[in-house]
Amino acid sequence: MSLLFFIFSLPLLLSPSLSFSFGNASYFIDCGGSTNTTDPFNTIWLSDRYFTGGAISVVSEPLHFRYPQEKNLRFFPLSSGKKNCYILPLPSGRYYFRTFTVYDNYDGKSHSPSFDASVEGTVVFSWRSPWPENLARDGAYSDLFAFVKDGEADVCFYSIATDPPVIGSLEVRQIDPSSYDSATIGDKFILVNYGRLSCGSNQWGPGFSNDTDDFGRAWQSDSVLRTLNTTKIIHSLSTRETITGTNQPPNFFPAKLYQTAVTGNGILEYALSVDAKLDYVLWFHFAEIDSSVKQKAERVFDVVVNEKNVKRVDVFEEVGSFAAYSLSYTVHNLSSTVLTVKFVPVIGAPIVSGIENYALIPNDLSTAPEQGTCVILE
Ligand SMILES: *[C@@H]1O[C@H](CO)[C@@H](O)[C@H](O)[C@H]1NC(C)=O
Ligand SMILES: *[C@@H]1O[C@H](CO)[C@@H](O)[C@H](O)[C@H]1NC(C)=O
Ligand SMILES: *[C@@H]1O[C@H](CO)[C@@H](O)[C@H](O)[C@H]1NC(C)=O
Ligand SMILES: *[C@@H]1O[C@H](CO)[C@@H](O)[C@H](O)[C@H]1NC(C)=O
Ligand SMILES: *[C@@H]1O[C@H](CO)[C@@H](O)[C@H](O)[C@H]1NC(C)=O
Repeated sequence: MSLLFFIFSLPLLLSPSLSFSFGNASYFIDCGGSTNTTDPFNTIWLSDRYFTGGAISVVSEPLHFRYPQEKNLRFFPLSSGKKNCYILPLPSGRYYFRTFTVYDNYDGKSHSPSFDASVEGTVVFSWRSPWPENLARDGAYSDLFAFVKDGEADVCFYSIATDPPVIGSLEVRQIDPSSYDSATIGDKFILVNYGRLSCGSNQWGPGFSNDTDDFGRAWQSDSVLRTLNTTKIIHSLSTRETITGTNQPPNFFPAKLYQTAVTGNGILEYALSVDAKLDYVLWFHFAEIDSSVKQKAERVFDVVVNEKNVKRVDVFEEVGSFAAYSLSYTVHNLSSTVLTVKFVPVIGAPIVSGIENYALIPNDLSTAPEQGTCVILE
C-alpha cells in the first residue's frame, strides 16, 4: 500500500451552478464547521451535516490554512465505532468526489492516524501513520469519479488503529455519466485520480483559482512530475486564443487546459506514481498553439507508455491548430510503482497540454482493504 503525493498547494473550491442535462446536484460540506461560510471563490460551504457520528475539532494552527472549511475537521473516535460515514442524499448518477484530509496535530498527540476511506463501499484511500510531515501539517486534497445508484452517496471511514480517522471537507458534484469513456469501461469502476496535469501552467481550477472546470476538476502543474533526463530545455507556451472543441460533452475539458503547453528539444518524459497490480486509464490532451506550425507533418511525435508505443500524433492533421485533441489509453496490471509517459519526437518537438491518470478501482473491493489506494492532492 503506498501513499501517493501530488504536490498541489493548499486551497479549495468554487461552484459554477450550471444546469447540465445530466443534473447539477452538489454538496460542499465544511466537516467540523458550525456555520455556513463562503470562500474566496464564492463557493458556499454548508455547516457540518449528514454524518453518522464523531466529534468536531479545529486544526492546531488555523492561520496556516487559507479557507474556513480547511480549519475545522470531524474526527471519529473509537467510541463512535469502527465505521463512520457521511451519507448524502443524491439522485442516481455519476459524481466527482473531493475530500480534504488534514491532521495538523489537532489533538496534540503528534500522531497522525491510520485509516481507510471508502466511497459507495469501495476502499479508495488508505492513510497510514506517520504521514509525511508536510501532509500532516498542510492537509491534502484527493478526488475521484464514482457512480451513485441507490439515492445516496456513502463516504465512510474505517479505523485501523486507535487514532481517529479525520476529514476536513467533502465536496460532491454531479458529472456527465458518459464521461471518461464509461460506455467502454462500464459503471463498475471508481476512477481515482493519480495525477491531473496541466502542462506549462501553475496549478488552477475550482478551489485553487477562479478558473472554471464544469466537473470541479483541479489541475496541477506538470512541472513536478516532469523528468529532465532527456530534454534539457523545456519551453512553456501559452495563448489567449480561443481553442475550439473545448467544454464539449461528455468530458467538458476546459478551454484553459489547451491554452498552455510544453515543448522541448528532445523527448518529454513524465514519471507518474502508481500502485502496482491495478489498471490505469490515461488521458492525453494536445492543441497546436504555436502559430508557426501551419500544416500537417510539421510536428509529429509518438506517445510512449512504459516503453510501449501507443500512438503517433500529428495534432494539426487531426484537428488543425488552436483546437483540442484528446486521446485515452488503458494500461493493465502494472508491475511497478512508476508509470512512465514519454513524448518522442518524429518531426519537430512534441507538444503536450495535459495528462490525466486514473486508477480503475473495481467496485466490491471493500472486503480487501489492502487494495486501497491513496491519492493525495496536497
Ligand atoms: C439545477 O438544474 C435545475 C434544472 O435544470 C435548475 O432548475 C436549477 O436552477 C439548477 N440549479 C443550479 C444551482 O444551477
Ligand atoms: C446553511 O445553509 C443551509 C442551506 O441553505 C440551511 O438549510 C442551513 O440552515 C444553514 N445553516 C446554518 C447553520 O446557517
Ligand atoms: C474570484 O472572483 C470573485 C468575483 O467573481 C472575486 O470576488 C474573488 O476575489 C476572486 N477570487 C480570487 C481568489 O481571485
Ligand atoms: C531518468 O533518470 C532516472 C534517475 O536518474 C533513471 O532512473 C531513469 O531511467 C532515467 N530515464 C531515462 C529515460 O533515461
Ligand atoms: C498481474 O500480474 C501478476 C504478475 O505481475 C500476475 O501474478 C497476476 O496474475 C496478474 N493479474 C491479472 C489479473 O492479470
